[in-house]
Amino acid sequence: MNRTFVAIKPDGVKRGLIGNIIRRIEHKGYKIVGLKMLQPTLEIAEQHYAEHKGKPFYQSLINYITSGPIVAMVVEGKNVIEGMRHMMGSTVPNDAQVGTIRADFAQTKECNTIHGSDCCESAEREINIYFKPEELCEGWKTMMEYVWESMPEES
Ligand SMILES: Nc1ncnc2c1ncn2[C@@H]1O[C@H](COP(=O)(O)OP(=O)(O)O)[C@@H](O)[C@H]1O
Ligand SMILES: [Mg+2]
Repeated sequence: MNRTFVAIKPDGVKRGLIGNIIRRIEHKGYKIVGLKMLQPTLEIAEQHYAEHKGKPFYQSLINYITSGPIVAMVVEGKNVIEGMRHMMGSTVPNDAQVGTIRADFAQTKECNTIHGSDCCESAEREINIYFKPEELCEGWKTMMEYVWESMPEES
């Protein structure tokens, strides 16, 4: 199993989309092993988006992500990094496939409702920004894990 960092961004929280987004993640069969609502500080926002420092949208991105609470999650599942990115849709909501979170809930490139790590290294880095190891609830099994265990490995 892989894990990834997911965040419902301030626009998603303010518009009451927490339940809808968590429902999609759970219905996919992914396991949420870390979950908290927090108001990102400037320091956290700068760490999270360090790769974008210097870009024209950087300052407004920092303002946006610190503009209200977010819901931060650690999500586990088979190929979950790619899977969550697929469920989120493209960065620009109008390029995202209909049915994805960004296509369904967002209108602008900036306020695009959800964040998900883009690779293993980003996932580990981002999880460590938002969660201490003892805040993760690992070691329990979802029904999907029982299903996966009973199926042959994919080639
Ligand atoms: N050109 C842009 N103008 C405004 N905001 C942007 C722009 N590009 C990216 N962003 C914001 O910065 C976030 C991080 O960008 P990026 O890592 O490229 O996308 P993603 O979130 O899909 O991984 C985006 O989700 C979006 O909120
Ligand atoms: Mg990114």
